[in-house]
Amino acid sequence: MKLLVIGGGGREHAIVDKLRRDAPRAQIFAAPGNPGIEAVARCVPIGAEDVESIARFADDEAIDLTVVGPETPLAAGVVDLFALHGLPIFGPASTAARLESSKAFAKALMRDIGVPTAAFETFTDPKAALSYLAGMEPPVVVKASGLAAGKGVLICRSREEARRAVEELLVAGRFGEAGRRIVIEAFLEGPEISVFFITDGERAVPLVSARDHKRLEEGDRGPNTGGMGAFAPVPEVGPDLVETVRTGIAEPVVAELAARGSPYSGFLYVGLVLTEDGPKVLEFNCRLGDPEAQAVLPITEASLVEPMLAVAVGDGVSGWQPEAARGAALVTVLASDGYPASYPTGLPIGVPDGLESDDLRVYHAGTAMLDGKLVTAGGRVLGVTGVGRTAEEAAARSRRGAELIEFEGKRWRRDIGG
Ligand code: GLY
Repeated sequence: MKLLVIGGGGREHAIVDKLRRDAPRAQIFAAPGNPGIEAVARCVPIGAEDVESIARFADDEAIDLTVVGPETPLAAGVVDLFALHGLPIFGPASTAARLESSKAFAKALMRDIGVPTAAFETFTDPKAALSYLAGMEPPVVVKASGLAAGKGVLICRSREEARRAVEELLVAGRFGEAGRRIVIEAFLEGPEISVFFITDGERAVPLVSARDHKRLEEGDRGPNTGGMGAFAPVPEVGPDLVETVRTGIAEPVVAELAARGSPYSGFLYVGLVLTEDGPKVLEFNCRLGDPEAQAVLPITEASLVEPMLAVAVGDGVSGWQPEAARGAALVTVLASDGYPASYPTGLPIGVPDGLESDDLRVYHAGTAMLDGKLVTAGGRVLGVTGVGRTAEEAAARSRRGAELIEFEGKRWRRDIGG
């Protein structure tokens, strides 16, 4: 069997690692992959957004299943292109992927079918946005409607901050086209969770839930990042809550998309806030979370190859039920000094020999090889996942690994998971 993973970050490394466990004899490719993925798969130098070249590669190599890691190739229509060529791929087509690529679309869809989410309005005109803001109590959230590499959500603690955010997006064009339309919404108070599903256009089957910690500093302070660490499962997410999310959110959304002629299949990420009034949707993503995938996948016992292949060829996930998670996992992200703003790259990374095991995985996110040596090449450099029978054991393993890996200016949080 030949498998291809699109992408080259920590999530994609975790997907490749999982596929390697699920299908030990498969030939696995990654486009473009990274130095960590290179150790377990063949990396091909095709960018994740070069969807034409990826489709050509999949056709030439007769790939049996392609799994899309990030959102940008989905929005760029990689699934539509594969479908044209009859190539099996796991992920939503571009019109369905608007759930993530257009926040305005997702919010309107939720309002239309009564999915619980924060009160909101959508704007392209700054004057109208400012007049709406005048009637809101801070904190408020100002979001770029389009894809902004995880940076398009601005939490504003005062009206003045919100006014500046509106002007930055709608007047100064801070996020370019992605920010020409904005969503302004009420801030939801409560703990956040990420619940992941495999969907086939009708059914949604849950994977393990996770909690991401997006703030840079310990104590959930400092600027928002792509995620400084995550753990899974989340103790307060029991089967009843997952069932509520499946039947009250995931499946109605998928059914509505099908009814509108945009059937949704692939991973569905439901980001929720557990408010006093019950779970409310913060966002949908059309992929697994990063770094959440680096905690969820190592403890997912059931093979994902069969359900992904079944969905990719149109057979559906009916009858597939993953077993319970194997213990607990926690991923600690090692970031470059200066992240999420500017940071140096090209710094040598030292990973002690023999550090990795089944219970301690080191996922590459922003690394490169320079003159035969591993160096930093991004803001989030590595994800160090500890797996244990308990959350405490997983956390201790992850932090021990994070201590032992070295690069200049390494930033990481020791408080994730408590
Ligand atoms: N960790 C947040 C995300 O993947 O969008």
